[in-house]
Amino acid sequence: MSTFQSAERRISARQPQQSVYSLEGRLQIEHLINPTEPSDEELHPGSDVIRGLNQQPKTLPPRYFYDDRGSQLFEQICDLPEYYLTRTETEILQSCAPEIAAITGPCELVELGSGSSTKTRLLLDAYQTAGHSLCYCPIDISAGILESSAQSLLLDYPTLQVHGLVGTYELALQRLAPSHLPTRMIGFIGSTLGNLNPQECDRFLEQIKTALQPGEYFLLGIDLQKSKAQLEAAYNDAQGITAAFNLNMLRHLNHRFEGTFDLTQFEHFAFYNESQHQIEMHLRSLQSQTAQLKALGLTIEFAAGESILSEISRKLSLTKIQQDLESKGLKSRQVWTDSKQWFGLILCQLQP
Ligand code: AVI
Repeated sequence: MSTFQSAERRISARQPQQSVYSLEGRLQIEHLINPTEPSDEELHPGSDVIRGLNQQPKTLPPRYFYDDRGSQLFEQICDLPEYYLTRTETEILQSCAPEIAAITGPCELVELGSGSSTKTRLLLDAYQTAGHSLCYCPIDISAGILESSAQSLLLDYPTLQVHGLVGTYELALQRLAPSHLPTRMIGFIGSTLGNLNPQECDRFLEQIKTALQPGEYFLLGIDLQKSKAQLEAAYNDAQGITAAFNLNMLRHLNHRFEGTFDLTQFEHFAFYNESQHQIEMHLRSLQSQTAQLKALGLTIEFAAGESILSEISRKLSLTKIQQDLESKGLKSRQVWTDSKQWFGLILCQLQP
């Protein structure tokens, strides 16, 4: 660990509650809280779990995938031979990043769900090569991953300014300060939009529209429709990493809410729902059983074969999503796909 990194760690270890800190003037991380209007989750932790498990069919919010182990498993998924998404989007970004930098010019790059920021480096490289100032605003719900990736970016890009926001997309989009650079681009890559249902997607695009000034940019990565066989292989990998990722949600809930889910009595089940154009991931009960989440005062009965819907992953049509974007005033400037049309990247601009 470099002196720079260890100094940074000492600061965060000494002042864990402090919402803003900076080092050498290039790093600022804000922990967003909403003191006037605490969210339902802040007021009633686990209320979304109670709601989902009391529904018929049962559901769980995908955000519970991402504890530390879940985030590591997701990184492993991205490298799986069957999971073409990350590789294909990276390939597209490798070739189009210089064009993106040329279209936007000097630009503050905001990234929603930045995670390890691996693909972002391709954009930062392109802006650096074009001689543009580098300002990056990663937004992530996980402080740990945001801090560690910001530190490694600062080491690799000596002129980069990082202003990270730890919090939900919704809160972060409301809190974006005006850009110091001539324009801004909000990036939402990795096809995470596909994990939102149509109503959530509509609300999210409205929030993007509100966060941007006319003329500013939105870069969106989406997974496109393809054969059932290929999609089902991507979510049922031979090594069982996706199964472990799905089951880890129950482990996470056990840990967080004093749960009694027996992971050996549930199985991962994923299939492509062709009429809805979406992968559905389920946790299927292998027998009739009862589980409890004691901290939430919840007892859950399962019939044999009953399942919990843990995630949808929608596969979109380029034409349809461009129409949805345009209905929010977000006009496509450029669209890139790979040669097989598996994945798409859309750069759009908010119209006056
Ligand atoms: C994060 N998201 C885009 C992934 C997807 O493909 O929908 C999550 C995932 N679930 C299973 N594998 C990957």
